[in-house]
Amino acid sequence: MKDRFVGRVEDKSAVVAVVGLGYVGLPLSLRFAEMGFKVLGLDIDQGKASKLNGGLSYIEHIPSSAVAAAVQQGFEATTDFLRIAEADAIILCVPTPLNKHREPDLSFVIDTVEQVIPNMVAGQLLCLESTTYPGTTEEELKPRLEAAGFKVGEDCFLVYSPEREDPGNINFTTSTIPKVCGGETAACLEAGVALYDAVIDSVVPVSSTKVAEMTKLLENIHRAVNIGLVNEMKVVADAMDVDIHEVIDAAATKPFGFTAFKPGPGLGGHCIPIDPFYLTWKAREYGLNTRFIELAGEVNVSMPAWVIGKLADALNDRCKSVRGSKVLVLGIAYKKNVDDMRESPSVELMEILRDKGAEVSYSDPHVPVFPKMREHYFDLKSVDLTADVLKSYDAVLLATDHDKFDYDLLQNESPLLIDTRGRLRSGGSNIVKA
Ligand SMILES: NC(=O)c1ccc[n+]([C@@H]2O[C@H](COP(=O)([O-])OP(=O)(O)OC[C@H]3O[C@@H](n4cnc5c(N)ncnc54)[C@H](O)[C@@H]3O)[C@@H](O)[C@H]2O)c1
Repeated sequence: MKDRFVGRVEDKSAVVAVVGLGYVGLPLSLRFAEMGFKVLGLDIDQGKASKLNGGLSYIEHIPSSAVAAAVQQGFEATTDFLRIAEADAIILCVPTPLNKHREPDLSFVIDTVEQVIPNMVAGQLLCLESTTYPGTTEEELKPRLEAAGFKVGEDCFLVYSPEREDPGNINFTTSTIPKVCGGETAACLEAGVALYDAVIDSVVPVSSTKVAEMTKLLENIHRAVNIGLVNEMKVVADAMDVDIHEVIDAAATKPFGFTAFKPGPGLGGHCIPIDPFYLTWKAREYGLNTRFIELAGEVNVSMPAWVIGKLADALNDRCKSVRGSKVLVLGIAYKKNVDDMRESPSVELMEILRDKGAEVSYSDPHVPVFPKMREHYFDLKSVDLTADVLKSYDAVLLATDHDKFDYDLLQNESPLLIDTRGRLRSGGSNIVKA
């Protein structure tokens, strides 16, 4: 059956089902379609499916023209899980958040698997791409396949291949980011590598699904810990009246052994604030603590309050209090040049300011209206930036440094500008680095 699967991938007659058409699943679907595969996109959100079938993208950095081209190529989005039977490969790209106790919430993965497996037929490959703790594929997916009567490695193939999507990064695309792949058996790995080899320039096989799962966590923990380190260094540098960004730039001239990470107002996005705690949770099963992860989390989580402390001090120097001040937050997406608001520290900055009695507005060229979020509410629209508008605020807080902002205008017209990103390095009496 493995040879049949590989043959169908190689002659591109294989049908690829991608489950979860979000930031990860949509670009992956488009890549398979671009390479000539028939792609079936499955999601529980009928709105998304209809939009995509109409050739429209709902994610800012993915152009509708790419979706329309995929539709031409035979891409079809559906909410009908019975259609899983039509596929050769089924790739799961559903969310893996934390619950309110900061523990892994695998409910999306489990719900999806329970909808998918009853519709599977012999000879298919099932791949999990969602970020998760080592052991998920083996402990959660494999037993469910076996309970449904499949023999993993013989009449179905089970792999884990972590996604490394970096939305908004123009230097890399889905196809040029090397892809790690681990299989439950040698045949599973062979099938998985054949599948990704068809669409990704470089596939990196590893010895097990657990290794592949932990690889993704190491990458994100490496980032979270290093951001925690530079955030701590920023606070120390600030107390010593040293510009941390100048220090980082100088250190980055070392041609070996140093990688530059940038400090900021806190961690954001679906990955870095969340994924490390998947390992923390699993490590407890082995009686182990993940102290670097916890410490980095502690430092990173403290950054919004530190930034607001700097803003309050700057207002105080101008004989003003936060209460009653008009504050404009610039950039509410979690990182520059994207529209993704998940876990954005800007929202926390806005909430702290509101709780302290400030009158808060925001401007973000990528987020015209403050979106509905599960735990946050602001009835606000993005403010258009002009000299008069900027002058009307007591403080302007640069939280996310989108390239679309006019930095000369900001620097020249803001009465007080708090820069959390090191974007306005030349300084000025109205600029406070935070
Ligand atoms: N966003 C990134 O940059 C990124 C990068 C690397 C890895 N990841 C990981 O990839 C996974 C997916 O992340 P994302 O950013 O694409 O999430 P997302 O929220 O953008 O997309 C998930 C999609 O899954 C759908 N969905 C939810 N439950 C479903 C179900 N039961 N059946 C079918 N569809 C369902 C949702 O409607 C949504 O369209 C996560 O584990 C994440 O950690 C994300």
